[in-house]
Amino acid sequence: MNLHGATALVTGSNRGIGHHFVVELLARGAKVYASARRPELVNIPGAEPIGLDITDQASVDAAAVLAGDVDLLINNAADTAGGNLVTGDMAGIRSTMDSNYYGTLAMIRAFAPILARNGGGAILNVLSAAAWTTVDGNTAYAAAKSAEWGLTNGVRLELAAQGTQVAALVPGLVGTQTLYDFAERHGIEFPDGAVMDPAELVGLALDGLEAGEIEILDPMGAQAKARLSEPPQAWAL
Ligand SMILES: NC(=O)c1ccc[n+]([C@@H]2O[C@H](COP(=O)([O-])OP(=O)(O)OC[C@H]3O[C@@H](n4cnc5c(N)ncnc54)[C@H](OP(=O)(O)O)[C@@H]3O)[C@@H](O)[C@H]2O)c1
Repeated sequence: MNLHGATALVTGSNRGIGHHFVVELLARGAKVYASARRPELVNIPGAEPIGLDITDQASVDAAAVLAGDVDLLINNAADTAGGNLVTGDMAGIRSTMDSNYYGTLAMIRAFAPILARNGGGAILNVLSAAAWTTVDGNTAYAAAKSAEWGLTNGVRLELAAQGTQVAALVPGLVGTQTLYDFAERHGIEFPDGAVMDPAELVGLALDGLEAGEIEILDPMGAQAKARLSEPPQAWAL
């Protein structure tokens, strides 16, 4: 897809990777709805902030009415703090699944007709290498990302007929505050070069999208995918 002249909606754009998506899309000549639960926190010149909670159907429906010219949907927003599946707090586990899986699905269901109307367009779901392994301390998040991978593959099949490119971005470790807070809580020190700069990741993602790719992997994402043919093992952080 050509991003120059495209109209994008990015979820969770008030911080982290979502913020960088908005900045880079604008730089590539797209119009951008920068959505966030608290749109007043979005301060990116040229972007159009809109309020959106992807787990609230009324909020999703309102965004679809407001942003009827979208031809690129970037599903980036997620609650990433699920914890462990057996011992973790059930509310946190549900919230992680709710945002990563059902919230992403609600966005796709609301915007699929809009994309069709606007020529097909594209959807980019932000997954994680955790989808293809698991992470001690956050197995609930890894499981939710696995579900989101399955969702992405299903939706790609269903929307092929309307010409929508459905892509997955599968990063490893990306340098956002959320990642550094997780590392601090778990006493993890990342080796030099292991953490990717969010702006660099977004550049890779948008290059892949423009090239028509359906699975865009950074080096750790590629490593995790290659290991799928081996017996399951946790991600050694
Ligand atoms: N950082 C990494 O190492 C890494 C690696 C692989 C994949 N990823 C994926 O990349 C994406 C962004 O990660 P990040 O590190 O940038 O995360 P982040 O800094 O924690 O940002 C998460 C964003 O999602 C928003 N959000 C959460 N629940 C939402 C909801 N129900 N409705 C709307 N927005 C919601 C948050 O809004 P509030 O500010 O209101 O909470 C925030 O804007 C996620 O899908 C994550 O799983 C990250």
